[in-house]
Parts: sequence; C-alpha cells; structure tokens
Amino acid sequence: MGLLAVIGGSGCQGVRDAGVIGHSEPVTPFGDASGALLHCRLAGREFLFLARHGAPHHIPPHRVNYRANIWALQQAGASAVVAVNAVGGIGDGMHPGRIVVPDQIVDYTHGRAQTFFDEDHPGGLTHVTHVDFTEPYADELRDGLLGAARARDLQPADGAVYGVTQGPRLETAAEIRRMERDGCDIVGMTGMPEAALARELELPYACIALVVNWGAGIEGGGIAISSVMRHLEEGMEKVQEVLQIIIREYGK
Ligand code: HPA
Repeated sequence: MGLLAVIGGSGCQGVRDAGVIGHSEPVTPFGDASGALLHCRLAGREFLFLARHGAPHHIPPHRVNYRANIWALQQAGASAVVAVNAVGGIGDGMHPGRIVVPDQIVDYTHGRAQTFFDEDHPGGLTHVTHVDFTEPYADELRDGLLGAARARDLQPADGAVYGVTQGPRLETAAEIRRMERDGCDIVGMTGMPEAALARELELPYACIALVVNWGAGIEGGGIAISSVMRHLEEGMEKVQEVLQIIIREYGK
C-alpha cells in the first residue's frame, strides 16, 4: 500500500524481528528529529521507525521536536504513521494493560511548537492555513490496528478520548477529575501536537495506546512508578504483536 512509519513511544524502541536496512540522521527546517530514522524490513515489508524519545530514551515529552519528526518521516517517503503511546487510564475499562485505539483528542499542552505554518522557518510552510481536525485520526489505519489487535485476541478499546497533558510531571487528582468531566478516557503527554502536524502534512495517522497506570487519584494513593514500568514492559509485548500484523498488511 505504501511506506508505513512507526513512531515508538516509551517502552517501544523498535519492532521485534525487524532488520535495519538503512538509517539517516534527519535534519529539517525545524531542527533535528529525535534521533536516527531507521529504514527497516520485516517479513519482506519495508517500514520506517523513529523512537520519539530518542535512543536510548532521553527526550522528555515537552522537549520532543514533533515538527522535525513528522517532517522527516514525510521527507523519507512515509505514507502513513502509526504512533505508539503509553497512557494513563481514566474512563471505565481503561485499566492497566488495556490496548486502546483512540478516536478523539483534547489538547491540554502549551508552549509546544504546534504548526508547520510558521513563517520564521525558511523551507517550512509559509501560507496560513486552518486544517480540518474534526476527526484527528485516520479511520482506515484505526481499523487496521483494531483488526490486528482483535486477531491476537487483545480486546482493544475501539474509540477513546485521549487527553494530552504538558508534563513532564503526572497530573493531580483534581486535574484527572476535570479531565474525566471533559470526557477524556485516557491521559498521556505525547499525542499532541504530533497528530495535528501529521494532519497538516496530510499524512494519515493513528495511535495505538497502552494503558500503564490508572490516572492520578483514581485508585487512591499515588502512582507507583515500579508498577508503571511493569505494565509498560508486559503491555508492549501486546503492542509488538499488533505491529507485526499491521506492518505485514500495510508495508510495501
Ligand atoms: N499521565 C500522563 N501521561 C502518562 C500517564 C499518566 O498517568 N501514564 C503514562 N503516561
């Protein structure tokens, strides 16, 4: 179909069994991407992989150069982007270990470079444009992720509102209660502006999220980082299963 790009989040530094057949260190009008852009092959299918937080993981969510990452993927020929994100659960059923394919976003981030339509970047896009973002994720790609997760009996949540916070700290209990009132089902720090930037470049984009903790205050007590790490490690095995299938189906 095309050249799929995978943006790996926390706990996802590559795709299992994939071979690296090339790599570049992308420099864009917006600066450097998070790290090497890997050109990979899995079962005869090619795809691109980029570690959102760098390799090894060192760039916090508010410091990721989302513009450079998305620009670099498009320059390298990506025709669609699958984003992997670790998140907290807020809504019913969004328990640790759950695989979620969100369908909506509420953006609580601030101070992040969030558009390519920015005149102070020679080589960037200079005309002023307001992209339609009513449906932030690409249906076909969402369906592909859901189908792959169902094929592995992972019982993914189909649709969720992803509330994106600024971080890097976790939320207060009151912030999570507010997000719940706002209709958020999951909370993470890296869903935006990534999704909007992909839309600006007309790149179909979808997210596979893994819940690694309950949102602050939901269980009473604080969030134990050791438990987050355990859910991250165990849950990313499931994400890898989904990636295996989607790359085989989508890759060229
Ligand atoms: N809040 C924000 N981001 C997160 C969380 C959370 O609880 N868990 C994983 N990423």
